[in-house]
Amino acid sequence: MTRLIVATGNRGKTKEINSIVADLGFEVSSLLDVENPPEIIEDGDTFEANAVKKAQTVADFYQCASLADDSGLVVDALDGAPGVYSARYGGHGLNDTQRYEKLLDALKDVPAPRRTARFECALAFVVPGDVPHIFRGTVEGHIALAPRGTNGFGYDPVFIPNGRSESMAELDNAQKRQLSHRGQALDSFAAWLQKNK
Ligand code: IMP
Repeated sequence: MTRLIVATGNRGKTKEINSIVADLGFEVSSLLDVENPPEIIEDGDTFEANAVKKAQTVADFYQCASLADDSGLVVDALDGAPGVYSARYGGHGLNDTQRYEKLLDALKDVPAPRRTARFECALAFVVPGDVPHIFRGTVEGHIALAPRGTNGFGYDPVFIPNGRSESMAELDNAQKRQLSHRGQALDSFAAWLQKNK
């Protein structure tokens, strides 16, 4: 079986990615399973640049296939923030709840029609010696007035996907996987793998 390291230490993402990638015929682990992983500074201006940097660093370091997701929430009324800074919005010391509370506060004077937003994901797959392959996914929606739900992670409680009345954190794993930015990018990766393995 081909070894694949998912280049993330984020538990929420690891859970979502592993459950899908494990079915694709890889022996999967993540940076949560290895000791002393390489330090990766996410200093790219785009989700793609950060995803490639993470996957390339891990593929080179461990000399095996690597898959990295870089993703975040893009809010129109905040000129695209938090965007690539989603994990650090409000400062490094905050937890997920404090971060989305900060976001709700930044939007407190913004009425419902102007609370449009999207989750974006870039997924980079790197095999040592080959060029990176990139897959993308986006889910459009809006920011709720108050948090709802306890599933998922990050900004899920305050994001309502278009066509649903529930927040992303009120959907179960299968529902989120079906419509999410990461689910879409993983579907494209799986389809590409079928053709190219
Ligand atoms: P990074 O890709 O490691 O830079 O982190 C992305 C950040 O975006 C996460 O820490 C979350 O705050 C947010 N994010 C990305 N995907 C999701 C999601 O599916 N639900 C909620 N928040 C997300």
